[in-house]
Amino acid sequence: MTMNFQVQEGRAEKYPCELLLLFSFDSSEDWGGAIRAVDSEWKGFLTSLMKRGDFKGELHQCQLLYTQGALPARRVLLTGLGKRSEFDLEKWRGASAKAGKYIRDSGVKQFVFPVKGFSDFPEDQLTEAFVTGLLLGIYQFNEHKTLERDKIKEIDEGTLLGESADETTLIRNGLRTGRVISEAVCMARDLVNGPSNKVTPSLLAEKAGKISKEHGMELQVLEVGQAEDMGMGAFAAVAKGSHEPGKFIVLEYNRDKEFDTIVLVGKGITFDSGGISLKPSEGMERMKDDMSGAAAILGAMEVAAKLQFPLRLVGIIPATENLPGGKAYKPGDVLKTLSGQTVEVISTDAEGRLVLCDALAYSLRYQPKAILDLATLTGACVVALGDYVSGIMGNDDALLQRVEDASAKTAEKVWRLPLWDEYFDYLKSDTADFRNVGTRAGGAIIGGIFLSKFVEKIPWVHIDIAGPSNIEKEKPYTPKGGTGVGVRLLVQMLRDWK
Ligand code: BES
Ligand code: MN
Ligand code: ZN
Repeated sequence: MTMNFQVQEGRAEKYPCELLLLFSFDSSEDWGGAIRAVDSEWKGFLTSLMKRGDFKGELHQCQLLYTQGALPARRVLLTGLGKRSEFDLEKWRGASAKAGKYIRDSGVKQFVFPVKGFSDFPEDQLTEAFVTGLLLGIYQFNEHKTLERDKIKEIDEGTLLGESADETTLIRNGLRTGRVISEAVCMARDLVNGPSNKVTPSLLAEKAGKISKEHGMELQVLEVGQAEDMGMGAFAAVAKGSHEPGKFIVLEYNRDKEFDTIVLVGKGITFDSGGISLKPSEGMERMKDDMSGAAAILGAMEVAAKLQFPLRLVGIIPATENLPGGKAYKPGDVLKTLSGQTVEVISTDAEGRLVLCDALAYSLRYQPKAILDLATLTGACVVALGDYVSGIMGNDDALLQRVEDASAKTAEKVWRLPLWDEYFDYLKSDTADFRNVGTRAGGAIIGGIFLSKFVEKIPWVHIDIAGPSNIEKEKPYTPKGGTGVGVRLLVQMLRDWK
């Protein structure tokens, strides 16, 4: 991401620029400061467009206008916001993204956006959501494209205009927050979109190393042998199927500070072939995204450090491939987990819960106030909730509520699934404490029930992101492919902690 932002004091109707970005509800009666001022400077041209129906202000409608010297701006881009009564920050993020993509695709390199004057939200919130929507909307993953690179379009610079010093201060704050969060989401997207021959467990460890160095965090990377010696028989079993070395990554922020401790665990399967219980080859390429949970944890930790959240955070990423090598674990194997409990392997494709159960057991040593895990855990969760919604399960209503509150604010949708005792019956085993697989029916919940056996009494929420981690159809500020889901959700929850 190369786009740059700056904040200036000035007035839209007086400001010389390549493109002036204005937003409009579906009625000019709802217009506020900036667009009104521009309209009157332009002798009512914008109102006349509305009157004639050339621009209706429908949500996401874009109309590019050439000012022909009527204004210091060369062009004006009008973007519709729909009905004022239905306006909220989520619509706003979407409209900002649409405007950003329109500007980028027109080949215009700079724009100016007057923040004030069309909504009652404070300028910092408006700016944060604008920057977030825009930067996430114009995200492109073209690292591996070598042909016609000159056709790749990018915006160079956006200028955010405030009308007073107080306003520019709010805008600066919103810009900083929005930019830090969006950059972390884009980093997570890059990791998810990256192919598994590049995004290996070692690369995840390197990324964690960079983040730890930049922000003075503690980092520990355990090799598979070390993890095994410590008792992580489940993580080690999965890792042994591949020649690509697995890594058990532990990143700590504010290690010795007296803040509430929260552990974030992310599934880091950099490629899930299913192992000996091999997946069908069709669509298997998508399984490079099976480290989306890990990517979200890295993103959230980076934001927490950059914005200096008063929390002690531990990010734990069990990272490995799941391959059917000669040393691979097999159906029928019994594994001893770090918790001491044993697991009978029914399917080597239920590897996520195996690497996570050791990570969850490991997280208990921090005596955290809360544990959250993010994982592309089950296809069943996608069957239950579809592509756009994460399933959440947990043992603590208050913590689940925190996640739901963060979800409402960020529009990263979540839905609760129950973890009733009955579900545990599916995991009873004849030879070990439990099996790693139950039935297809209720598969997402059974995955959750399995994990619940490793967190003891610590408040814990499991977030199954198998659906929204990767989408086939773009949304206003989420291009298709890896979405970076979870970063904004976790960050919001951490921001609102206490
Ligand atoms: N990584 C998959 C889950 C998945 C499937 C994520 C599709 C995204 C899209 C996970 O490791 C897996 O294979 N789960 C199995 C569990 C089953 C064997 C109990 C599944 O969902 O089929
Ligand atoms: Mn699997
Ligand atoms: Zn998996």
